[in-house]
Formats: sequence, C-alpha cells, structure tokens
Amino acid sequence: MRFLAACRRQPVDATPVWFMRQAGRSLPEYRALRGSGSILQATSDPETAAEITLQPVRRYGVDAAILFSDIVVPLVAIGLDIDIVPGRGPVLAEPFRSRADLARLRRLEAGDDLAHVIETVRILKEELSIPLIGFAGAPFTLASYLVEGGPSRTFGRTKVLMHSEPLVWAELLERLGDISLAALRAQVEAGAAAVQLFDSWAGALSRAEYERFVLPASRRVLEGLADLDVPRIHFGVGTGELLDLMAGAGSDVVGVDWRVALDEAARRVGGAKALQGNLDPAICLGPLPVVEEAARRVLKEASGLSGHVFNLGHGVLPETDPGILAAVVDLVHEETGR
Ligand code: CP3
Repeated sequence: MRFLAACRRQPVDATPVWFMRQAGRSLPEYRALRGSGSILQATSDPETAAEITLQPVRRYGVDAAILFSDIVVPLVAIGLDIDIVPGRGPVLAEPFRSRADLARLRRLEAGDDLAHVIETVRILKEELSIPLIGFAGAPFTLASYLVEGGPSRTFGRTKVLMHSEPLVWAELLERLGDISLAALRAQVEAGAAAVQLFDSWAGALSRAEYERFVLPASRRVLEGLADLDVPRIHFGVGTGELLDLMAGAGSDVVGVDWRVALDEAARRVGGAKALQGNLDPAICLGPLPVVEEAARRVLKEASGLSGHVFNLGHGVLPETDPGILAAVVDLVHEETGR
C-alpha cells in the first residue's frame, strides 16, 4: 500500500495522495446525504458516517480514506455542550475559564463513549481496500475551542490562561491529551491503519510557547501510540517556525502547509521523517492549468525527499470543484509513477 509505505519512507510505485477535508462540503453527494441535519448527527450514525467516508474514495481515487468525524466528537461524547455552527466551527455553550472547569473533563471510556465511531471504523475496514486514517485533535487546538468558547483569530484567552495559570493549563492539556490518546487507540484497535493528530492552530504560538506549553502534551499522545505500530502524522497550519520542534514530538510524518516549500521543510524537520503536503487549497479554486502547475511545483520540491504523502496544505475549501481534485490525483500518480 503506497500510502503506508510512504509514511514509513519505504519505496513506492507512485506518490500517494489524499486530501484533508476530502469528505465534506465540496461534494454534492455529501450535501445530499447529510441534508439539513447537524454534522454531529451525521457522525453519530455509523452507516451514514461510513458512506460519507467512502464518497471521496470513489470519486477521486485517493490512496487513503479519512474517517468522517470531527475533532470535537470525543468531547461531545463525554458530555460537553458543543455545537458545530455551519460556516463558523465548534462553539461551546460554557467556555473553560478556571480550575473548576477541569472537573467537566471526565475520562473518555472509548469503548462505551465512542461506540458509534468504533462501529463506523469496523464497517469501513470491511468496505475499504485502501488504508483508513483515524484522527484526533491535539491538546492545544482542542483547548483553544474550550477556552475561547469557539473559533478565534487571536487566541487571547487561551494565551492568557497558559501564561497566568500554567498549572491549570498543564492539567487541561494533560486531560485533553488522555482523551485524544484514548480516541486514537480505539480507532486503531477497530481497524484504522494510520492516525493524524490535528494541531491546526499551533501556528499561532511562539517557539517558546510551543515548547513549554504545548509540545509535552502532544508528545505524550504521539508516544502513547508507539506500541500500535501505525504511522503517526502530526499536522498544523502556519507551523513553519515550529517544524523542528514538532519533529521532536514523536510522529512518523510531519504535515506542512503551503507557506514553506517541502525541500526547505525537510531541512527544518531533519532527516528521519516523511512529509505530507502541501498544495495551497486556495489555488485549487483556480482553472486546471494553474492548479496543475502548482501541483507540479510541489512534486518538484518533494523530489529529493524519502517519504512524501501528497496532500493540500490545509483542508479542501467548500467551493472547490471536485473535478479539479480528481485531476490532481491523476497528475500526481502519472508524474511520479514508475
Ligand atoms: O474529510 C475529512 O477531513 C474528515 C472529516 C473531518 C471533519 N473535521 C468533518 C467536518 C476532519 C478530519 C475534521 C477535523 C477538524 N475539525 C479540524 C482539524 C482539521 C482542520 O481543518 O484544521 C478542526 C479545526 C475542526 C473543527 C471544525 N469542524 C471546523 C473549524 C469546522 C468548519 C466550520 C465551517 O462550517 O466552516 C468544522 C465542521 C466540519 N467538520 C465540516 C466537516 C465536513 C463542515 C460542516 C458541515 O458539513 O456541516
């Protein structure tokens, strides 16, 4: 399987490709199936979630599937009142502001709390002939939603909490890390062949903040998966200045956004890791020749790597033409096939 081989920096017959947010709003068949219900409702029905996971596999010919779920699903499963507001993102009715709020984060008993997710993975293991990627939110990105109460541009409350109450912050991240680790282990035990830890908003942090306040908790999650022997992908947006630190967190693959070319990213990450990325999802809104030129540039910049998983630098934008993504998959396979 070329996706798993590339993650392990083994020889491949062609560069593997999948897209973050490949399952979702850019597909008309997704919108038709989901109707007007909430995304959390769709993730809670295993048959529906499995079907949504399969839709982009059929349409694009990607080399890996990603479970249809969300990073807040384990938090909803332990009883937090979180809604995913269309066009906005996760919103928490009562944000976390003090030590007392830690009591609201009980342990995740994955077998019971995530029974619907586990069932979805089992269905997919039967149906798929390519690897399934399980995922979870990294402690910092999850904490940012809990502390801000929703999406944020500045992460002001989150940064004030980490600097002014470092012990509360450390305990918050440790508990969130335990939840993400339990969720990831359950997905692997049910059949996921790789995992991705999404620290989408880590790029908002300075190096010193990342190292002191975030890296230890993410490392605990990634190292807590070591015995399962599945490739671990670690991804964030705007993390160019953090790549060398992220490389020390215990993943096998580092995800890179479009701001840093993959050859430069490889220098920052150092030798022993595969890289994933990094076509700009905004360019994918353009006409095919423009997208193809950008995709070829990514392949050129990746040509010296040992271990490249082609992806976007962040998720598919909702208005993307699915035909463009299908053409990108073909291009990557044709240009790199041997
Ligand atoms: O195809 C896939 O990638 C698998 C499914 C997936 C979803 N969310 C489904 C979803 C994955 C991997 C995620 C992860 C996720 N969720 C992240 C990390 C990845 C990233 O993009 O950085 C984050 C930060 C979230 C939180 C979240 N959920 C946001 C910011 C949003 C967008 C809100 C919006 O409408 O713009 C969501 C909602 C969401 N999660 C959608 C999907 C398909 C779209 C909303 C819908 O269909 O109702």
